[in-house]
Amino acid sequence: MTDYISVQTDKTELGLKAAEYWLGQYEQAVKNRAVFHVVLSGGTTPKLLYEHLASKGFADRVNWKQVHVYFGDERFVPHDHADSNYRMAKETLLDKIDIPIENIHPVEYRENHIEDCARAYQQTIETNVKSWVNDIPQFDLVLLGMGDDGHTASLFPDTEILNENQRWVSEVFVKKFNSWRVSMTYPLINNARNVCILVVGDNKAEVMLSVLARSGATKYPILRIRPIGDLVWILDASAATLVIKQGIPSNLSKLT
Ligand code: 6PG
Repeated sequence: MTDYISVQTDKTELGLKAAEYWLGQYEQAVKNRAVFHVVLSGGTTPKLLYEHLASKGFADRVNWKQVHVYFGDERFVPHDHADSNYRMAKETLLDKIDIPIENIHPVEYRENHIEDCARAYQQTIETNVKSWVNDIPQFDLVLLGMGDDGHTASLFPDTEILNENQRWVSEVFVKKFNSWRVSMTYPLINNARNVCILVVGDNKAEVMLSVLARSGATKYPILRIRPIGDLVWILDASAATLVIKQGIPSNLSKLT
């Protein structure tokens, strides 16, 4: 496993760089296995990537019939709810490309049945992802973001899910948002061929410094993201301010 970093001047450049990286991962997967199983992330940052992927310069370079999309985590709300990660991806990407509906795997929403939905999602992954390593399904690429508390997916500080090492998808109550979520867990995410984390904003600069220096492991859940393959950080200049000032750690290679 190699850690890479790329710092982009602004959000637009970050979206472009992330799209180029995504495309490279797609091409490699399809060349070797004729299919690309990719996990989409939620929140706001990935919109920058999804909008590029949906644009003519990228969308027409992808055979979407060979792409299966999943969600690294989901707010436990109906699919048409404003907070839904599925809705965000649908509006910014999925509705704009010719991906077969059966290749889109959202987390099911059935009110008051979150555990059933989490277990059903694990079943969906087991059924669709054909590459397995260590007896765990292996995604070609997992996209993640990072909160300013060092969470990723819905792996938040001081939550039970951080200790989950049997289930690959679990329900989690997030106190700070007073809401339930469904999230992939460390065993599944870390079994990925590659993980790409997109981070923007000066509000994350401080945590970025600690995380890239790999200090504060117990404090920042994202530090336990250690995939089998490569871990790629793509930051914008504002998120990387302090890292640049301090000097990029020597264990990080430049993403070309
Ligand atoms: C979510 C995401 C979450 C996100 C971070 C960063 O459902 O919100 O999965 O982990 O990646 O909170 O969010 P922003 O990109 O909005 O800063």
